[in-house]
Amino acid sequence: MTQLKDGVYWVGAIDWNIRNFHGYLTHRGTTYNSYLIVDDKVALVDTVKEHFFPEMMRRIREIVDPKKIDYLISNHTEPDHSGSITKLLEVAPGVEVIASDPGVRNLRAYYGEDFEATSIKEKSSLNLGLKTLNFAAIPMVHWPDSMVTYIPEDRLLLPNDAFGQHLASSKRFDDEVEQAVLMQEATAYYANIVMPLWMSVSRAFKALEGLDIDMIAPSHGIIWRSNPGVILEAYQRWVSGESKPKVVVVYDTMWGSTEKVAEALVEGVSSEGVTVQQYRLSETHNSDVIAEILEARAVLVGSPTLNNGLFPSVASFLTYMKGLKPKNKIGAAFGSYGWGGGAKRAAETEIKAVGIELIENDLDYKFRPTDEELERAVEFGKGIAARVKTS
Ligand code: FEO
Repeated sequence: MTQLKDGVYWVGAIDWNIRNFHGYLTHRGTTYNSYLIVDDKVALVDTVKEHFFPEMMRRIREIVDPKKIDYLISNHTEPDHSGSITKLLEVAPGVEVIASDPGVRNLRAYYGEDFEATSIKEKSSLNLGLKTLNFAAIPMVHWPDSMVTYIPEDRLLLPNDAFGQHLASSKRFDDEVEQAVLMQEATAYYANIVMPLWMSVSRAFKALEGLDIDMIAPSHGIIWRSNPGVILEAYQRWVSGESKPKVVVVYDTMWGSTEKVAEALVEGVSSEGVTVQQYRLSETHNSDVIAEILEARAVLVGSPTLNNGLFPSVASFLTYMKGLKPKNKIGAAFGSYGWGGGAKRAAETEIKAVGIELIENDLDYKFRPTDEELERAVEFGKGIAARVKTS
């Protein structure tokens, strides 16, 4: 059994094999973290995806008879956390479910209009005996129902999806796993889930201001036991839109022409000593690219023209990026075409719609770029490098 604090246990489940979490590739799987607090009263904070109910129950039974659970705190209604609630209520019908106001409404929408739950407007905290559970709504981090549970006696924050990572591991704590892997997954998680909600995250930080936090136990991945400051500082940085002098070149290609331009841009940026990464969308998933864009200052998007418009994989990427709204970036489009063109213009429209500052250029070539044209692309790359070094 895994104990976070005296009487606080991890009773979640490990999903080793999930590789696609609603469109976001989860290369290292994930966990659904439930926490059991055993005091005079017993509380369970969140459940697990329905399929993993037996795994959660096995862990609960190692500690306490599930019938002894008095409260179920539903911090967030998405089914990866609420999916086992009805099964739990069959085993322990006396459990009182507590959720935010929108959470109560969502539970009824998911599990039936007669679903009984208490809003945190009625019970903003619970006294379990030696420990207290305090609740605070953090709307849109990342659903309207999202809330956190805080145990002041343990200085323990249970923030549900916030500060999580999709990382399956036999280890539970930050001091037990490779830091580079942990931060890579925390970064990908923020970029693919939390990034467009930065204003809500800012408000949540204000709501949590003044809390003395010793440990952060999110609903996915590793628990920040030894160094919660690392993830708090990373979120502050990401929310502010802080970026590094780094350029991401993302494109697809039909007959190699757009790729030649991409390579010339990479050569130009790189020759100025600036970090640059090149991704062809037929080989790299949108969710992996967006994780690299989070801290990059510039994004250069290339597309061949197909049927007077964007190549489908580039259109998909631009749609994905538009939804996630990366902050504080500069960008440009480039491309190639056979006769009428159109992809570069369409990419520019989408780049502006993301909120990225567009750098105009003429990097759009008929059939194959000449050596002179590729040299112009190298020079453009150098110019982008100069801009990211100084801004
Ligand atoms: Fe992990 Fe929004 O559910």
